This record gives sequence, C-alpha cells and structure tokens, in this order.
Amino acid sequence: MKATVIRRERFAAAHRLFNPDWDDEKNREVFGKCSWKNYHGHNYLLEVRVTGNIDPMTGFVMNLSELKQIIRRVLEDFDHKNLNLDVPEFKDLQPSTENLARILWNRLRNLIPEKFDLEIYLEETENNAVIFNGEL
Ligand code: NI
Repeated sequence: MKATVIRRERFAAAHRLFNPDWDDEKNREVFGKCSWKNYHGHNYLLEVRVTGNIDPMTGFVMNLSELKQIIRRVLEDFDHKNLNLDVPEFKDLQPSTENLARILWNRLRNLIPEKFDLEIYLEETENNAVIFNGEL
C-alpha cells in the first residue's frame, strides 16, 4: 500500500536573472524586473512529496519529523542567501525557479532513502511554481 507524504518549508533568498551574453536591454526584455542589477528577493515555498509503502509498524511512509530535519539541513545553504553569489551550483547557471527546483531536488535526493520516490513543488510567488521529480 503506497501513499505520498508531504512536508512544506519556507525560505527566503535573493537572486538576479541575467544572461551575460546579452546586453542590458535584452536582459530587461526577457527577464523584466528579475534582471535588476542589485538583486531582489523571494519568499519561496518548498513542498517535498515522498512516495513509498506504508510501514505496517508505524503506519507512516516516512517519519515527517525526519523529513523536516532533512529539508531544513538542505535549506541552510539557501535560506537568507544570495543564490547567484552564495550557491556554487549557480556560478554559471541561471537561478530560475526551474533550476533552483533541480538543485534542491538533487540535494534532497542524496539524503532521502532510495526506496522512496521524490517530487518537489517549488513556489516562487503565489502565482508561479515549478514541479520537478528528477525526470530528464
Ligand atoms: Ni525573481
């Protein structure tokens, strides 16, 4: 018997979307306000969805307090950080919600046992969000 358990955590981070191969006008045209040179922030909502068998001994798929600790450990490198400057994966990568979701998924995947399927939902604003489950 399978089920999906969900844990939400919130974090804040700054970023700037900018393609150095384009001039300022083209960057503004494509990225709008997100291209502002002095960065801007978002309050992100990360929803981590873990699917697996319900353990008959606990009645749980996964202990959510364990999952909470894993997520918080991962988010230590992102919360109140500048994604462009503080997160090495973004050195040459656009800190879009899509790419942030991929990186968070990879970090989480390393800490969540392989027997579970993992999907994340990452909200940048209340209207914009990305789902990533590791499929390439
Ligand atoms: Ni932005």
